[in-house]
Amino acid sequence: MEKNSNADLDRLLKSGLSDITHAENSKNLEAVRVQLLGKQGSVTSQLKVIGSLAPEDRSAFGAAVNRVRAELTTAIESRSLAIVEVERQIKIESQRIDVTLPGRGLEPGGLHPVTRTLRKIERIFLRAGFNIAYGPEIEDDFHNFEALNIPKNHPARAMHDTFYLDPETVLRTHTSPVQVRYLENNHPPVNVIAPGRVYRCDSDVTHTPMFHQLEGLAVDTDISFGDLKGILIFFLQEFFERDLPVRFRPSFFPFTEPSAEVDMGCVFCDGAGCRICGQSGWLEVLGCGMVHPEVFAQVGIDNERYTGYAFGLGIERLTMLRYGVNDLRVFFENEVSFLRQFT
Ligand code: FA5
Ligand code: MG
Repeated sequence: MEKNSNADLDRLLKSGLSDITHAENSKNLEAVRVQLLGKQGSVTSQLKVIGSLAPEDRSAFGAAVNRVRAELTTAIESRSLAIVEVERQIKIESQRIDVTLPGRGLEPGGLHPVTRTLRKIERIFLRAGFNIAYGPEIEDDFHNFEALNIPKNHPARAMHDTFYLDPETVLRTHTSPVQVRYLENNHPPVNVIAPGRVYRCDSDVTHTPMFHQLEGLAVDTDISFGDLKGILIFFLQEFFERDLPVRFRPSFFPFTEPSAEVDMGCVFCDGAGCRICGQSGWLEVLGCGMVHPEVFAQVGIDNERYTGYAFGLGIERLTMLRYGVNDLRVFFENEVSFLRQFT
């Protein structure tokens, strides 16, 4: 029995040491440990053999089992240290950072081309003595239409593809309601511009459902159409910094009389006619005219004593012409490769 058991122990030690050496990772090693030294482990069960031995053999056998156990424990510990080190190396290798690579750098952002254009336009008018005013984008029917001499059922309402929030509330279709709001609160002389977003149910290469306008309004006792032409030609020359053909074309707005629209020579076809200018050779950039006496009456300004001019610029249209962008919609698609060209 003793011989047998000692031979068993010997085999156990050898195969245990071999298993430990071959354990490739902590998980394998732990499995080997449990198999040898765990509660049901093969070494642990040798201890149970002791009870069946002759009393005089017990202490020697017990000591032998303990030696085997101690030897295996030491082997497991040193194997464990080796495995931890190997695993650490693998981890370090997998997270290696090549510090010699160039950095990614901080890329400066840029202002949106529409914002840049807007700021440039504002600077020009501020230099010419205008102040800046703002009005709400959610507007009531009175300010967007009624007070601008566009009563309910007036055919001019069809020119505006209006987004209605309810029968009395709209997303403003132009910046002209700011004229009304400003005159309600300020007495002439008035020299003001009003930039902002406007909304129309409209979409193609030169129309988007949301776009920007900049309203201009000057009211005093002796304002003429000549002043209007003067300020707009001054503005367009400052803005484009070169001579582009400009034309004033008679037009109609219920809130101005007389009225005109201003077109710029199409920069995409040099006036020959293309898809963008609708084959006309011209791109409309603004509407304007002399403030209609009825608008003054709506806000309680003496229309015998005062005259005024007003204009409404399309900011995106001017941006298209300035940068040669041939589709208005790209301004609102937030395509980074497009926007990056303006940084
Ligand atoms: C108006 O909105 C008038 N309120 C302008 C005005 C103001 C006239 C003061 C008289 C006095 P109109 O609908 O034409 O007019 O628009 C003015 C400009 O906005 C156009 O010349 C064009 O440059 C731009 N615009 C109009 N619709 C769109 C659109 N869907 N997308 C982009 N730009 C547009
Ligand atoms: Mg128009």
